[in-house]
Amino acid sequence: MELKEAIGLRRSVRYLDPERPVERTKIQKMLEAARRASHWGNVQSLRAVVVERATAPKEVIDSLEAYVGNFQMKIAPVVIVWYLDAQSVDEQPDRLREIVEARAMGIDLQETRDRLERVIIPFFEHLTDVLKSPGMSEVDCGQGIAQATLVAFEEGLGTCLLGSAKTAELISYLGLPDQARILVLQTVGYPAEDVYKAGQRPRLPLRADLPPEPLQRAVPTRRRHGQGARRRGSDPVRGARRHGAPRQGAGRPAGEVRLPAALAAAGCPRRC
Ligand SMILES: Cc1cc2nc3c(=O)[nH]c(=O)nc-3n(C[C@H](O)[C@H](O)[C@H](O)COP(=O)(O)O)c2cc1C
Repeated sequence: MELKEAIGLRRSVRYLDPERPVERTKIQKMLEAARRASHWGNVQSLRAVVVERATAPKEVIDSLEAYVGNFQMKIAPVVIVWYLDAQSVDEQPDRLREIVEARAMGIDLQETRDRLERVIIPFFEHLTDVLKSPGMSEVDCGQGIAQATLVAFEEGLGTCLLGSAKTAELISYLGLPDQARILVLQTVGYPAEDVYKAGQRPRLPLRADLPPEPLQRAVPTRRRHGQGARRRGSDPVRGARRHGAPRQGAGRPAGEVRLPAALAAAGCPRRC
């Protein structure tokens, strides 16, 4: 199955066959897909516990509870408990060193190593508490879970993400670290419904929430909202400039890439 086909056809599957076990190799493929997702600073804070209904202890099964659609927890042969380990931020210096050694950062290796130790690592160390707070890491974990979800679909499995109603119990019964943040529970199994029949779920039209135009045209104008022709001074970009705000893409032809001065000084793109 092509990637775009999987993206186009995937949907949440709430009715799973409780009697049909899921091959561990398929679960492993899901976890591999999650592991390969991008993460800021290559920190990799996403974690998972795979719970197989057939063998899991009763207290774990009982703590798999969802606020909405809890019946799914009773029929899914497998539930993946996705969580985030904020402690992994403490290991960020080593993750960054690995990136530098893999030549994914910087141009000159020795210069980059020096700058990493002198500037970048101390900079991040000042921000440790902020970086451990909910935010960017959740975005990255979401990317990983999305990749796992697509791979499950490609493997013929049905999945649904569910918000957990018993996070403290799960942390305790699964023996997770205290700082673990349960993100979401994912039911996994073979569909007991016709996945293709109902098609994908309704979505807002693209232009409403993700305008594909270049930045300057994506800024709403009065005309776009049907409030009459644009008058001088009614354009929010112009209006903002009058008050000294920086320009937002205005005056720059679409598609033109401006190299930051530092890159140009380093000889990019010639030497990069
Ligand atoms: C983070 C997250 C949490 C969700 N929680 C629940 C839930 O608690 N119960 C449920 O039935 N569906 C849950 N869903 C599934 C959504 O309701 C579903 O994605 C939505 O109906 C869109 O349908 P689709 O996934 O079939 O495209 C959740 C989805 C996400 C991404």
